[in-house]
Amino acid sequence: MALLIKGGEIVTAEQRFRGDVLVEGETIRAIGPNLEAPPEPEIVDATGKLVFPGFIDPHVHIHLPFMATFAKDTHATASQAALAGGTTTFIEMVCPNRSEDALQGYRTWKEKAEGNSACDYAFHMAVTRWDAATESQLRQIVADGTSSFKIFLSYKNFFGITDEEMYHALKLAASLGVVTTAHCENAELVGQLQHRLLAAGKTGPEWHEPSRPEWVEAEGTHRFATFLEATGAHGYVVHLSCVPALRMAVEARLRGVRLHVESVLPHFLLDKTFAERPGVEGMKYIMSPPLRHERNLPVLWTALQAGMIDTVGTDHCPFDTGQKRMGAKAFTQIPNGIPGIEDRVNLMYTYGVQRGRLDIHRFVDALSTRPARIFGLYPRKGAIAVGSDADLVVYDPAYRGTLSAAHQYTSNDYNGFEGFAIEGRPAVVTVRGKIQVRDGKFVGEPGMGRMLRRTPLPAEEPEAVYAH
Ligand code: URP
Ligand code: ZN
Ligand code: ZN
Repeated sequence: MALLIKGGEIVTAEQRFRGDVLVEGETIRAIGPNLEAPPEPEIVDATGKLVFPGFIDPHVHIHLPFMATFAKDTHATASQAALAGGTTTFIEMVCPNRSEDALQGYRTWKEKAEGNSACDYAFHMAVTRWDAATESQLRQIVADGTSSFKIFLSYKNFFGITDEEMYHALKLAASLGVVTTAHCENAELVGQLQHRLLAAGKTGPEWHEPSRPEWVEAEGTHRFATFLEATGAHGYVVHLSCVPALRMAVEARLRGVRLHVESVLPHFLLDKTFAERPGVEGMKYIMSPPLRHERNLPVLWTALQAGMIDTVGTDHCPFDTGQKRMGAKAFTQIPNGIPGIEDRVNLMYTYGVQRGRLDIHRFVDALSTRPARIFGLYPRKGAIAVGSDADLVVYDPAYRGTLSAAHQYTSNDYNGFEGFAIEGRPAVVTVRGKIQVRDGKFVGEPGMGRMLRRTPLPAEEPEAVYAH
C-alpha cells in the first residue's frame, strides 16, 4: 500500500516548501504539491507539521562491555528510543577491547543487532590494537560494508592504542578510503592526573573533569590531526567538548587536513556543575570528555551554526544509578556515559532552532544530512528525494512537554535531561515507508531494521603536508 504524507512543510538541509511526499514500497516515489496517489493510499495529514528526513545519530553505544559492566540498552530498547525521538538510523561503535579478537568482536556486535533493531543501523569498527592479523581482519570488515574505523587515544590498555598503532591504522584507512573517527584525549596525562587526585583524597565525581582538563583534549585533537596530516587519512573527531580542542580542529582544517568534527548532545546543554552534584546525582553526569565549564557552551553553538562543528551525535551510553555507584569510592570507577538517543532531536530543535541559535536547515544538516554524507549513506539516507529510503519525520512544532525517565524507551533509571522542557516532537516517524511511531509512541515492527552496508569513499589525493 502507498503512503501519502499530505500538506506538510518539507524541510531539508537546503530547502523549505509546502508539499506532499508519496511513498511506494520502501522508497520515496514523488514529492510536490497535490500529488495524485494510487487507489486507497494510507494518508498522513501533515498540515501544520514539518517533514524532515529521518535523523541519523552517528555515535552511539548499545552493546558495550566497559568499566567492568555493560551499557544497559539492547538493540530493541535503543532503537525504539531512537525512533520515538525521530532518529531513524544510528551508527554504533563496535568496541572489542585490546585483548579481544577484532573479527570475533565484529561478529558479536552484528549478531546482537540482527533482527532486533526497529530502525536501520551501521557500524564504526574500533581498532584497539595492531598486530600481524589486524590489517587483513580490517580489510574483511570493510569489505562487509563497515567502512569507518574508530580509535581511542584515551582508555589506556583497554580500548586505547599507541601512536605507533594509530599510524598503522590511519595508513590503512587512507589506502582504503575509510573515515577514521577518534576519541581524542591524552591517555598518559589522564592516568597521571587521576593518580595525583586520588592520592590527594579527591575521590568524588566533581574531580572527573579536573582529571581530564581541556588541554588534555586539545592535545589529543592536535595529535590526531597531525597523524592525519602525515598519513593523508580522512578523520572525524568524536564528542569534541571545548574551545581549545575546537581551535586545534579548526587550525588543522585551515592547513588542509581532512577532518570533520562532531559534538554531542550533553556538551551543548549541560555544564560541569551537573557532575559536581553530590553523590550519585553527580555520577549520572560522568562521561568523557567530561562536561565542561559553561563558557564553552555558547561557543559550541556558534561553531555548530557556522559549520565548524559538522555533526551532532549523542554518544548514547546508558549506565543506571546502581552501575554509577560502582564509583562511590573513586571517580575513576564510575562507568562513563550519558544516554541521549531518544532526546537529541527534540532538545536540539528546542534549544537550537526554537531559541534562534541554530538555523533549521543547519539543524537538518548536522543531525541527518551531513552524517549521511560523511559516512557514505547519502542519498539513501539523510535526504527527502525521489529514490531515497522513505525515512521521514513528520514533526509537530506545537507540541509542548517535559522529559522524564518515567516515560522513556531508553533502558535506564534516569534521564540526564530530566525536567527539560521540549517544544516540538515527532508526530509520525517512518522507516522505509513503514510507520514506526505515532505521537511519541512506538507502534511498529520491532525487528525490521537492517544493517546498512557502505562502500568506502572514493580515494582522494592525500592532502598531507608532511606526506612521505
Ligand atoms: O563517556 C563516554 N563517552 N562513554 C562512552 C565511551 C566513549 O568514550 O565514547
Ligand atoms: Zn569516546
Ligand atoms: Zn562514544
